[in-house]
Amino acid sequence: MINWIQKKIFLRRWAAIARRWPLERFLATTDLNLSDAEKQEIKLGIYEWRLLIPWYLARFRSCGQDRQFYCFGVAHGSTVAGLVRGLRNRAMNVPHLHLFDSFEGLPKEEPGVAIPAVWEEGAFSAPRAKLLETIEKLELGSADYSLHEGWFSETLKDGLVRNGTFKPAAYVDIDADLYNSTLEVLDFMFRHKLIDAGTLIGYDDWGDTDLWTAGESRAHMEIAEKYGVQFAQLFSWGEQPSMRTLFLVVAAEGAPNAKVKRHNAYAAPVASDETGVPA
Ligand SMILES: C[S@@+](CC[C@H](N)C(=O)[O-])C[C@H]1O[C@@H](n2cnc3c(N)ncnc32)[C@H](O)[C@@H]1O
Repeated sequence: MINWIQKKIFLRRWAAIARRWPLERFLATTDLNLSDAEKQEIKLGIYEWRLLIPWYLARFRSCGQDRQFYCFGVAHGSTVAGLVRGLRNRAMNVPHLHLFDSFEGLPKEEPGVAIPAVWEEGAFSAPRAKLLETIEKLELGSADYSLHEGWFSETLKDGLVRNGTFKPAAYVDIDADLYNSTLEVLDFMFRHKLIDAGTLIGYDDWGDTDLWTAGESRAHMEIAEKYGVQFAQLFSWGEQPSMRTLFLVVAAEGAPNAKVKRHNAYAAPVASDETGVPA
């Protein structure tokens, strides 16, 4: 009964912020110059934050040839829909999409790490068919994406880096909620240098847990320390418990004792052939 009440309270607060957080308030924190049509498209509030990713990809040279998108936690496909629509709005090519999910919902969190009442084991399980339906509506071809079905611990294989299936990331989307799931994917990506200077990382559930003590933010902080990563936070939209945030990797050691590689984030605009963005 107590758990049920906690769930209700959490969901009510979460949904109120996700729906009603004003776009104007977000825009005041960035220098994005969205057109009226783009503002109109973000009418669903922070649910539509992924439409903004292509703006930053173009700005930070993050989408060079062969770079890929990695989406962890794709369930029904709203992640994919937001990203693809955002890229097409800006006439950008859709990079190869690696889509990861167990479709069995959340696994157990690390013992002792706090979770909101709604994150019980199995929460957010979704039929794979729903994702495929979304992909079909988006008219993506089979060469445009790879679906990695299963637990991250099984689908993130070293061999896929060695055989060139996994290439460096332009963008990494984290919507797997839990601290342990987030830590697992970030550790794999940094260990194999699939995330490096210039990669963007977006978090869908940044504020669902207290910052830095649990959830995605704790995993982010631990990985930053482990791999010597310097991040720039590009935006934060909403407030707790419903916040989305986007980071740019500015420098990453990758492995202990490696030389820090810096990214000139404000380099000149990229050529159209590199990104698909009209120059
Ligand atoms: C909030 S849902 C994602 C919703 C999704 N972005 C969408 O567009 O519908 C979180 C997802 O993360 C997946 N997930 C979390 N931890 C995982 C893990 N360790 N391995 C595989 N999938 C995981 C769950 O199966 C669940 O579908």
